[in-house]
Amino acid sequence: MTEVFRLFPTLLYQAALPEQEAAALNADMEAAALSFAEQDKAGKKWCAENGYPGYTSYGSLNDLPARAPCFAALKRKLDAHGASFVEALGYDLAGGRLKLDNMWVNVLKADGFHSGHVHPHCVLSGTYYVHVPKGSSALKFEDPRLPQMMAAPMKRADAPREMQPFFYVEPRPGMVLMWESYLRHEVVRHRGRRARISVSFNFKWT
Ligand SMILES: [Fe+2]
Repeated sequence: MTEVFRLFPTLLYQAALPEQEAAALNADMEAAALSFAEQDKAGKKWCAENGYPGYTSYGSLNDLPARAPCFAALKRKLDAHGASFVEALGYDLAGGRLKLDNMWVNVLKADGFHSGHVHPHCVLSGTYYVHVPKGSSALKFEDPRLPQMMAAPMKRADAPREMQPFFYVEPRPGMVLMWESYLRHEVVRHRGRRARISVSFNFKWT
């Protein structure tokens, strides 16, 4: 008898907030994000110094849930989704918990992109999509074992999805995506004319 085992899966968590709830939250978050983009001087400076194509609050604001009720509401939703994902991943938190460590808005302008990266110092990372205009960029994930496959051939185009080295997600407003923080990902070039708005976050084990 021959068996082929499938070991060490890479999990990607995807959920959608209920449509009406998402629409209300997204309207508030879009307004808040655009107002930060205009008024957050420290954030604008950070974006200019770090070459961010648009505005992100990543380098300047670490208290979004205290700044607007829409972010506090989103945090409650993300806490629940984080707990579901921990369950699916089989983690034993050993009496501790996963805590939403930080949360930041991204206003990605036309032609902007964010090259491949991981999120250090945390366990889970993710993004919630607020405004996704036509032509919005996808989120591209890559097989974490790629750097170790030194002499392996390419995968066939018709190989199953889980065998492919890359996976693209087309965002939709109200979508929650989560992955383990080691998983390398990139935001491919944004082809929309209007800004694509999202909220990213990390969970830490405490
Ligand atoms: Fe990221």
